[in-house]
Amino acid sequence: MSLNLTHDQLADKILFHTRSNLQSFFSIKTLSNLFKEDASEIIVAYNLLLTYGYVYDKNINDEIKFTSAPDTLSSTEIGYKLNTKFMGQTCHSYNKVKSTNDIASDLAEQNAPEGTIITADEQTEGRGRLGRVWHSPPGSGIYLSLILRPEFLPEQAPGISLIVALALAETINEIVSDKVKIKWPNDVLISGKKTAGILSELSAEKNKINYLIIGVGININQTTDDFPDDIKNIATSIRRSAGRKINRVNFLKHFLIQFEKEYIIYQKHSLKKSRKKLLQYSSLLNKEITLLSGKEEITGTVIDINTEGALVLKIGDKIKAFSIGEITIAK
Ligand code: BTN
Repeated sequence: MSLNLTHDQLADKILFHTRSNLQSFFSIKTLSNLFKEDASEIIVAYNLLLTYGYVYDKNINDEIKFTSAPDTLSSTEIGYKLNTKFMGQTCHSYNKVKSTNDIASDLAEQNAPEGTIITADEQTEGRGRLGRVWHSPPGSGIYLSLILRPEFLPEQAPGISLIVALALAETINEIVSDKVKIKWPNDVLISGKKTAGILSELSAEKNKINYLIIGVGININQTTDDFPDDIKNIATSIRRSAGRKINRVNFLKHFLIQFEKEYIIYQKHSLKKSRKKLLQYSSLLNKEITLLSGKEEITGTVIDINTEGALVLKIGDKIKAFSIGEITIAK
């Protein structure tokens, strides 16, 4: 009678079936006939679902009905009815890793397809930009790496970070409107405090990108006490601003849909189409800032972000564009 499924595979099938028929109760016997597995196997797989945090209702006949899913960043949860063409359609999820970007690089070297994502509930050596640490405790944030294989030239790669930031801003804006800003080039802020950061790593030859790893860290459900003392005053989470817990899986799925849309537009039109939205979200527009570019420190007023994603500054009576740099002071 058995199809020789593992209990996890059988649990996946039961989950998918019961979840796709939300109004119905199912007996163990019905599921046993449907999946051609012994009733005892169905019970083991069902109990597995309960231990993973899925909730089922039981009626007086001991029939079961799917009620709710846990907010676990598992590939089953992320992949369930994920409405994208390729972004996130291959998904590797982990409980605890050093850094999702490291796993992404290994997978990219082994020819993982474009749009592959790696998620973790916790990182022990999460990396930020400029050699910083990305604090990655379990159960509260999203730690994500995306593998991209764009066909454009390496020069266009930096613009992708802005597109990721834009997709993040749009996704967050659906929850906490009007407070979301993008701080060029890589940060997403809510009410001036950092909520998400992006760490891109490029593997390229002279005129060709082999792959691009986009690491994204998003503070979703952290409370103030969850942040280490040195960043408490400059970091925030979506939960803090929304005043309620946010479902990480839903957030991630919305982000993947949004990012895929922006990525396809970027490949066709660079930033020509999205520049206007980027400017609307910019935290720096019309502000006087100091930019650290290599060893050079430049002070000027931000007047634009151009179609290559460079920050355009008015410095005295000169206008100059910078494609990389760290904003050290923003008044
Ligand atoms: C920044 O400094 O703002 C960038 C932070 C990027 C953090 C993410 S979390 C997932 C991925 N894995 C890492 O080790 N870093 C990135």
